[in-house]
Amino acid sequence: MSDFHEEELKHYDPDPVERSKSGFGKLFDEVVASRLTRRDVMKAGAIASIGATALFKATKASAIAEPVADSLGFVPIKPSKLDAVVVPEGFEVQTLIRWGDAMKGGMPSFNMLTQTAEAQEHRFGYNNDFLGYLPLPYGSENSSHGLLVANHEYVNPEMMFPNGNDRATIDAKKVAVMKASMGMGVVEIKQSDNGDWHVIRTSLLNKRYTSDTPFDITGPARGHKLMQTSYDPKGEIAYGTNSNCSAGKTPWGTVLSGEENFQSYFGKAKTARKTASQKQVEAWDRYGIDREETPFRFEDFDKRFDVSVEPNESNHFGWVIEIDPYDPDWTPKKRTALGRFRHEAATTHVTRDGHVVMYSGCDGKFEYIYKFVCRDKFSNDRSKNRELLDSGTLYVAKFNEDGTGIWIPLIHGKNGLTAANGFEDQGEVVIHARLAGDHVGATKMDRPEDMEVNPVNEKLYIACTNNSDRGKEGFPGVDAANPRALNRWGQIVELTENNNDHTSTKFSWELFLVCGDPKDESTHFAGFDKSKVSAIACPDNVTFDGAGNLWIATDGADSVFDHHDGFFVCPVDGPERGYLRQFMSSVKGSEVCGPEFTPDCTTLFLAIQHPGEGSTFENPSTHWPDGYGVPRPSVVAIRAQDGRRIGGPPTDA
Ligand code: FEO
Ligand code: CA
Ligand code: CA
Repeated sequence: MSDFHEEELKHYDPDPVERSKSGFGKLFDEVVASRLTRRDVMKAGAIASIGATALFKATKASAIAEPVADSLGFVPIKPSKLDAVVVPEGFEVQTLIRWGDAMKGGMPSFNMLTQTAEAQEHRFGYNNDFLGYLPLPYGSENSSHGLLVANHEYVNPEMMFPNGNDRATIDAKKVAVMKASMGMGVVEIKQSDNGDWHVIRTSLLNKRYTSDTPFDITGPARGHKLMQTSYDPKGEIAYGTNSNCSAGKTPWGTVLSGEENFQSYFGKAKTARKTASQKQVEAWDRYGIDREETPFRFEDFDKRFDVSVEPNESNHFGWVIEIDPYDPDWTPKKRTALGRFRHEAATTHVTRDGHVVMYSGCDGKFEYIYKFVCRDKFSNDRSKNRELLDSGTLYVAKFNEDGTGIWIPLIHGKNGLTAANGFEDQGEVVIHARLAGDHVGATKMDRPEDMEVNPVNEKLYIACTNNSDRGKEGFPGVDAANPRALNRWGQIVELTENNNDHTSTKFSWELFLVCGDPKDESTHFAGFDKSKVSAIACPDNVTFDGAGNLWIATDGADSVFDHHDGFFVCPVDGPERGYLRQFMSSVKGSEVCGPEFTPDCTTLFLAIQHPGEGSTFENPSTHWPDGYGVPRPSVVAIRAQDGRRIGGPPTDA
């Protein structure tokens, strides 16, 4: 979700942020210097001499003027304000699927003036975020035919409907359309002989999951009294998923999706407070369930979203959900063992001895990073693997100033998570995972967003997008992992589990990137020569290519710089560790999401989310991608014109 949208919601009905009184910490230089390794310092010197022997002559007008190393096979682009998807010379961009495109045969072209929920349930949803490519057939590495899974995070009524910025125009029909426009989508896609991708509209695997799709509630919160509602008195079924932001694929071929800003859709919370218990109110406060009216008006037309009628319904959201794109008839699950918070990312990793670990961040200012270690091991039995995420241990991260850290287990009865302290059972620990994290003293981070395990060095890279409240009076001050006050630029933390064992309860960590304009002395690019790197702000979604290079998509660069969000790449090891280069620049008002390579890295899929945000249906600030009319969030496919893998050298064998 963009800062703009968050700001709009705040303006509408402020979202409380919990405050602490720790005040300012050490000076920036002091804390960053303490996290710079001797290796960084030595390497920065070494790279200066390598640079002279590995030059690539820039030939394109938009390229950085000075020669640059060609190890990743492209000339970095300059930051851009062009209202287009800009890529380096030698690469091409195809719009693959747009909001409203049909996902089954026989449907008419999309007409925004005649939207219905029934039709939207078979059309590509709004505001694509996470993308996952799953090869067909299952188990193959096919890079020219597969399933594309997309999260549809949120809705912008002001961009979707005429006069949609006027709350009074939102009616039951538009609410139904919006509910059907969020959630997830699965489409079968295939590459033609000329390299272009196309959607197979008639595929039986195409499917939408919306804000009304039934889910099984699994794990410790299943059947819990806090999950019981008037239409689900057993607390075992949840209707719908929404606010699906970053996500992850599992080794068994399913997709996990993080429900992030679900609180935005719940209203009548102030009315509900008049009769609610103090404990209930505190829980709602901690999760931002505090709005009387929302811009979306779900609360007026679907009583599930009226907190005064269904006080437990919001407990059905904020989970990691699991869908099986290869098996559309499988009932999707809400995996409550993974904890309830504003999930961003759900990254799984299999350890060498077969344990499955999942990492996830809670995207809020001063929120936590979590991991879940499955009790049982990965096996060859797919049906058993699909149940792995119901049993195990949830942890929350504490970063020490000395570059070490610990994972604190969130287990009922331990670390003070007892009935006396408000946690009656493990169900309550996971439903109120944020409160549990508070209780055990986890580290309050600068909005943890996506995080991924590098397939080559097995370290975890965590994007902390920004935190403009860090260090303000009444808010937590800086600490070693969050080293800047009023942090508008974000940072990427590199976390190494002890012995590279992802089940470990101890880790070490470094600040890998401290983002911003490299001319700003507060920035840090893993010790690399800052005169050669691209400016970057607000890292959000990350992924890796097959060589282990870190690719970073941003959300909010236009709030810091005079240019649009983009997509960047940076080696994490070797002499170019920290050498950040811009690969792509995005459309006006958009953020870049969902970076995903095909297994052979010859195609890169990117989700362009909320193009034109900040404008309206009547006066859109961009007409992307069609060149006319209202902008449409869309997925693009990027390929090298010579078909080589992206991120590889030009003469890649
Ligand atoms: Fe949906 Fe935290 O971005
Ligand atoms: Ca974001
Ligand atoms: Ca995000």
